[in-house]
Amino acid sequence: MELQNNLHTEDGWQIIERAFDPEQLVTTGSNFMLGNGYLGYRGTFAEWEAEQYVACIVTDTWDTAADSTWRELCNVPNGLFTRALVAGEPLSAFTGETRDYERRLDLRTGLSTRCATWSGAAGKSITLKVEKFASYDEVQLVVMRYHLEAHADTELILLTGIDGQVWSLNGEHFRVYEPAVEGALLRLSTRTVEFDTQIEVVEGLRLTGKAPVRTTIRQEERRILRELRFRMRAGDAITLEKVVAITHSNQCDAPRAEALALVTRGVAAGFEALYAAHRAHWDAIWAVSDIEIGGNLEAQVLARFNLYHNIIATPTHDKLPIGARGLSCQVYQGAAFWDQEIFNLPMFLYTQPEVARQILEYRHVTLPGARKKARDLGYYGAFYAWTSGKTGEELFPDYFFTDVLTGRPIHNHFNSWQIHISPDIVYAVWQYYEATGDWDFIVQAGAEIAFEVAQFLVSHVYFKKDKNRYEFIRLLGPDEYHENVDNNAYTNYMAHYALERALLIFERLAEENPAALEVLLARLGLDASVTAAWQDIVELLYLPQPDPETGVIEQCDGFFKLEDVTPAELRKRLIHPEEYWGWPNGIAVEAQVLKQADVLQLLAQIPRWPVEILRANYDYYEPRTEHGSSLSPSVHALIATKAGLYDEAYRYFMEAATIDLYNMSKKVMSGGSFLGGIHTAAAGGVWIMIVQGMAGFAVTETGVRFAPALPAQWEALRFSVRVRGHALAVEITAEALTVRAGEENPGALPVTVGEETVAVAAGETATFRSDGGVK
Ligand code: BGC
Repeated sequence: MELQNNLHTEDGWQIIERAFDPEQLVTTGSNFMLGNGYLGYRGTFAEWEAEQYVACIVTDTWDTAADSTWRELCNVPNGLFTRALVAGEPLSAFTGETRDYERRLDLRTGLSTRCATWSGAAGKSITLKVEKFASYDEVQLVVMRYHLEAHADTELILLTGIDGQVWSLNGEHFRVYEPAVEGALLRLSTRTVEFDTQIEVVEGLRLTGKAPVRTTIRQEERRILRELRFRMRAGDAITLEKVVAITHSNQCDAPRAEALALVTRGVAAGFEALYAAHRAHWDAIWAVSDIEIGGNLEAQVLARFNLYHNIIATPTHDKLPIGARGLSCQVYQGAAFWDQEIFNLPMFLYTQPEVARQILEYRHVTLPGARKKARDLGYYGAFYAWTSGKTGEELFPDYFFTDVLTGRPIHNHFNSWQIHISPDIVYAVWQYYEATGDWDFIVQAGAEIAFEVAQFLVSHVYFKKDKNRYEFIRLLGPDEYHENVDNNAYTNYMAHYALERALLIFERLAEENPAALEVLLARLGLDASVTAAWQDIVELLYLPQPDPETGVIEQCDGFFKLEDVTPAELRKRLIHPEEYWGWPNGIAVEAQVLKQADVLQLLAQIPRWPVEILRANYDYYEPRTEHGSSLSPSVHALIATKAGLYDEAYRYFMEAATIDLYNMSKKVMSGGSFLGGIHTAAAGGVWIMIVQGMAGFAVTETGVRFAPALPAQWEALRFSVRVRGHALAVEITAEALTVRAGEENPGALPVTVGEETVAVAAGETATFRSDGGVK
């Protein structure tokens, strides 16, 4: 099937490109990337270099480059580098003649393949097939099979090895490059500038087919390559299997020995065996996290493409963050934002809860960083970083944007005023608890997070004496165009939610785990009286209510008094196309124009309002939203579905699901910033839109609920969820919703659709009418 932008799919499991467009290599490099949560390997060609944005981004390698203020992940030397010279001419996608080109990413198995027949000026043609994957079995491995067949007698040289001349966004991260030969293997060792992290890239090779007439090693300052010379006759073929390990001293004690051992074992096992082991992991992932869409192949492949990117961005080997651009490049520093809890996490919460737990544990181990940030800014408790790397200390710079008219840096306050990240984390902790019933996690980690966030909120909240109420003032909500606002509705409600949960956890610990509570309070320097302040704020915190006449909730104090103008009108006032719209002087500051969902975000997370309120707020805010953030469309789709605005919902679904795949923008840089990379929050949002939106899935006190609204464009929707140890396979068609309970489920789970509730026992199936009622 043909998708947009010359892309294709066969059965909804692969993205296929049949014409190479050099103008789009930044976008396709992200879209076709491989990854496993430990590393991300961009979808680039074996012969490419820094200029084509080749990158292998490895998590947990945060470091500040020389002459930079940006701490970011390292792009490590490229161990898959392989260039073919055919009759002296380098094989290249940019020169010569290419026929039968096809590149595909198999989403089911995380395998990328490139095939082409190429001939250069001398007219000697060869056929190439390159397959590669980032192993899920041994996450430090990337593996490539490079197969080449000659169609004419020709001299062929292959340069293959490790290329350390890599692209880096904010400067040089390595102060040492040490290339070496280790028996049959090549190695390039580096050490980072700031933390002296030792990074090892080791490459091993297995060559079959035509034998080389000569093999030499070429060693340059930042490269180590083998030069293999062949005298090919028409019909001769060679196959290189390259096994590359990337290890570093933040993850293991002896990175060099480990990498050498991994590659030695990998070369002995060979491509097929390594691939089979890797594939088994993907089979297990898809068995729980796949979404099947019947009757719409485009939507099917879009769903899987986004799930794939949400999955490969997520570290499962350690307690580390999910980056806002995943591991697709160094943009956003490979660090977590609120995106992680609110957009990436839901898919894991309800399909791979053990991964969700680990991500939340990451927020537990980074509490020291959050405490430090609170202290540094004059608060106490835990103020989570807006941009959080390994330690949880704030990575976000004070000056992010530049005023393109004056060239002066703009002081943004995302890190110091966008406080909602902290209650958002408590929200996710509680969602996890509700999804799993894992009280042990609350005792071990969740309680500490909730108490420390509650304390931070106590230290931040402002008591307005004349109104006898608490307020949160001088902050930013999700809409980043309006800084320095008071009583952002989203923030106030989330803070309220977090304080309520802290109280709830406190009470239950006091009853069930008094000893653990005592130890925790002692460690935090608190006593039982601490809850009085939490309770007081819960009772007296100002929660902006829907206007009694219009039903609209004001985004923040004074928002309705700002100029009412559409984003399109406002845009016309730009003097320069790259001007920043927000603080302090941007065109949106004095206008009711939002960067992204804000009140709608609140309605999505605290689902207590009736449909009329959803509708009123959607109708009010949607035309005023500029969608300057990739987080925005999926929330609009979710609320539109819940408000019964199905056409709108589908339009936003498509927008969110295609942000990366159909973004064939030729622009690489904007306002001095590199723009490439995968928008992982949008990818996570796809699961939310489908399962929580179109299927209306929600966890209830005793079971689960569905409110299906299958798009008219689809015939069927199938997915699985796991709730409190129960596995449920769900199928929705226009007429019916069927739930099949897993054979191993611990007893019956009440499932509600409309007014009907059925307790579905292990191994049983219940069928409801899609509009409610038992069939
Ligand atoms: C959005 C934030 C988001 C960040 C990282 C910004 O453009 O406004 O809400 O957290 O990007 O994705």
